[in-house]
Amino acid sequence: MATTAAAERGSGVLDDLQKVVALCKRRGFVFASAEIYGGFANTYDYGPLGTLLKNNVRDAWIRANVQLRDDVELFDAALITSPRVWVASGHVKEFNDPLVQCMGECKSRFRADQVEGTKCPNCGGPLSDPRPFNTMFKTHVGPVPDDENVAYLPPETAQGMFVNFVNVATTMRRRLPFGIAQVRKSFRNEITPGNFVFRTLEFEQMEVEYFVQPGTDEEWFERWLDARERWYLGLGLRSENIRRYEHPTEKLSHYSKRTVDIEYRFPFGEGWGELEGIANRSKGPDGTSWDLWQHEQASGQRLMLFDEDKKEHVRPGVVEPAAGLTRAALTFLIDAYEEQVLDAEKNDVRTVLHLHPALAPYKACVVPLFRNKPDLVAAARGIYEDLRRRWMITYDSGSNIGKLYRRQDEIGTPFCITVDFQTLEDHKVTIRDRDSMDQSRFGRVPIAELRGWLDAHLAI
Ligand code: GAP
Repeated sequence: MATTAAAERGSGVLDDLQKVVALCKRRGFVFASAEIYGGFANTYDYGPLGTLLKNNVRDAWIRANVQLRDDVELFDAALITSPRVWVASGHVKEFNDPLVQCMGECKSRFRADQVEGTKCPNCGGPLSDPRPFNTMFKTHVGPVPDDENVAYLPPETAQGMFVNFVNVATTMRRRLPFGIAQVRKSFRNEITPGNFVFRTLEFEQMEVEYFVQPGTDEEWFERWLDARERWYLGLGLRSENIRRYEHPTEKLSHYSKRTVDIEYRFPFGEGWGELEGIANRSKGPDGTSWDLWQHEQASGQRLMLFDEDKKEHVRPGVVEPAAGLTRAALTFLIDAYEEQVLDAEKNDVRTVLHLHPALAPYKACVVPLFRNKPDLVAAARGIYEDLRRRWMITYDSGSNIGKLYRRQDEIGTPFCITVDFQTLEDHKVTIRDRDSMDQSRFGRVPIAELRGWLDAHLAI
């Protein structure tokens, strides 16, 4: 049973991304990278709380897509691999964005599909004709950079799973349908990165390649689309801020038969933007995997499984739910953010993150009512030491408990466990609920039952 967060929070969407950016910096979620050198455009470092949040999003994704399923295996491919992978997958030739440059004063560069008209949005100068710009980062392996030792940083996680399809299937004794899941860094030399961590050069992705019997890809596509949407809703995203976007056929990627994005209503740009893409990568011969087929052609290896019923080798179709981990973490922050006016006359506004307990950096904060009373501090420390063996818990003591609660609200800690004088006699604590600020709804909870209580209230 999770908190009743949805019922006890305001509605509507955050109107200004800068509020979340400021909170991220103030409270140690995300910092501009290399800030002491003036930063480095569109790269960010994750602070202590941002790292915890990101790990929690990753863990919730692995839990839903691997742990609670019978049919998906986890994987972790090398980042730097044979460049032949990227030639075969089509990325060297096709992973392009259309680039236009201002021929007037400012010489700015834009993605052609993101500017309207033929004039530079900055200085009004004429724009060049669009030309393809490959967004893969190139590097060289070894001491002498030349054409023979070019390597690429991966722009998606998928290819590592395609080229290991047979390895995973045979070692794990899999038959179709089954999937391979991976959470890993990807890199894109984006022409127009921006909007904080929404679009960055280096980011993390969470992808499943789900291999299916040819002819069943469309049915599996629908199932994955529903499952992925449910995952976001189950972790607290408000349904009114989510929608589906069907890619028009003429704009599909080179490998895709069909792509539907799960979009979120972001507080910038045109609002709705991609959160995750679900693609049917079965554009190969007879509706089979485009990528496996390409790798077969290029490597000369058979990337098929022997079907005992059909008594033949089968190349599967593939459905790919591809999510951004860093983008999802930002989205959960945006959706959870609220400035709640508690007393307009006194200008009393509390900032609260209504994060789902599974995503909250700290699951609870243990608080002694007075920090200068050794008995209270010892009891609170004892509870903290015990609970943190199981969960990420924080301990805080301050002279002003009201301010302390507000500090925890702002970073999304769902519960504050308060040790007072009565605790020393009845061995019970009070638990303050972040969303309602209620301190009595749970009654006094025995210390001996705290683990069970948290287990029940933190469950996804
Ligand atoms: N393998 C398919 C693939 O990579 P994609 O739609 O290009 O598909 C999947 O990427 C997800 O990765 C996107 O929905 C988005 O959440 C995230 N993503 C893509 N580019 C990103 C970037 N430059 N910065 C942050 N996240 C990004």
